[in-house]
Amino acid sequence: MGVVGESGCGKTLTALALVRLLPDAARIERGAVRLAGEDVLRAPEARMSQLRGEVAGFLFQEPSRALNPVRSVGAQVTEAARLRRRIGRDGAARLACELLREVGLEGEVRLARSYPHQLSGGERQRALLAAALAGDPRLLIADEPTSALDTVSQRQMVELIRRLREERGLTLLFVSHDLSLVGHVVERVTVLYAGETVETAGRDELFADPRHPYSRALLEARAGAGAGGVFPTVPGAVSRPGEWGHGCRFAPRCAHADERCRRARPALTAAGPDRTVRCFLASDEEEPGG
Ligand SMILES: Nc1ncnc2c1ncn2[C@@H]1O[C@H](COP(=O)(O)OP(=O)(O)O)[C@@H](O)[C@H]1O
Ligand code: SF4
Ligand SMILES: [Mg+2]
Repeated sequence: MGVVGESGCGKTLTALALVRLLPDAARIERGAVRLAGEDVLRAPEARMSQLRGEVAGFLFQEPSRALNPVRSVGAQVTEAARLRRRIGRDGAARLACELLREVGLEGEVRLARSYPHQLSGGERQRALLAAALAGDPRLLIADEPTSALDTVSQRQMVELIRRLREERGLTLLFVSHDLSLVGHVVERVTVLYAGETVETAGRDELFADPRHPYSRALLEARAGAGAGGVFPTVPGAVSRPGEWGHGCRFAPRCAHADERCRRARPALTAAGPDRTVRCFLASDEEEPGG
């Protein structure tokens, strides 16, 4: 599943909510999260820390912030393996070497002894991926894993994630503002706007026939976002939580907005098999409670 939307749409918050890592100020008002059948919103904290890592692996946006600068990469992957698998030092070190090889870090032994600052951005992101896989998770949540990388490393990273997904049979949640990148690794896409889902569809269906005006704009802007993550074909920027009025949250930027769009909020409704859209052009249904 790909999760897309421009900067500030709520992609990271959504990903964090899935593993109950929301900031203190955030609260889940409704809905449910299940990981491998377990109720994430009700699980005790000890169980949650097992689920994170052993069921869900997390790859964060900024590799430089997620790695400890004063410990070698090998030590950090080894520590992840010990924590997740409850195995001894030697076993964990062997597993760390295997994982580093699996993510394509050549010369694992040299790299294992390196410190984060001695690696390239792509190598750091691979090292984090190795650590995320240490618990043999079924689900990998990757939050903009390529946004800090140059285009060549980006493509390699996406290819690596796709290979791992196939070889390990991983379920992948791939978060990105870059729809064309997402298209390479996912089968389905969820489009977020201002903290809510505006469309879900199979990748091919979405690319061929986007139903929400925002999805359409994203596809038109696929060549790349402009400065500050604002898409050239959609003037304006995504509204902040305090600015969410009673109407459709996309109305201030939508070329099709009418009086009703500004007054009432469209509900997310079925628009064919395995498709949902939140727009009055697709359905008259309003969001209960506005
Ligand atoms: N569902 C939501 N409910 C309330 N506020 C939200 C929601 N989603 C996003 N936000 C707000 O938008 C900000 C940006 O969200 P974030 O998840 O960082 O966006 P992205 O990763 O898409 O750039 C958050 O800090 C929060 O203030
Ligand atoms: S509901 Fe209205 S404003 Fe919102 S996306 Fe659809 S047409 Fe545009
Ligand atoms: Mg983000």
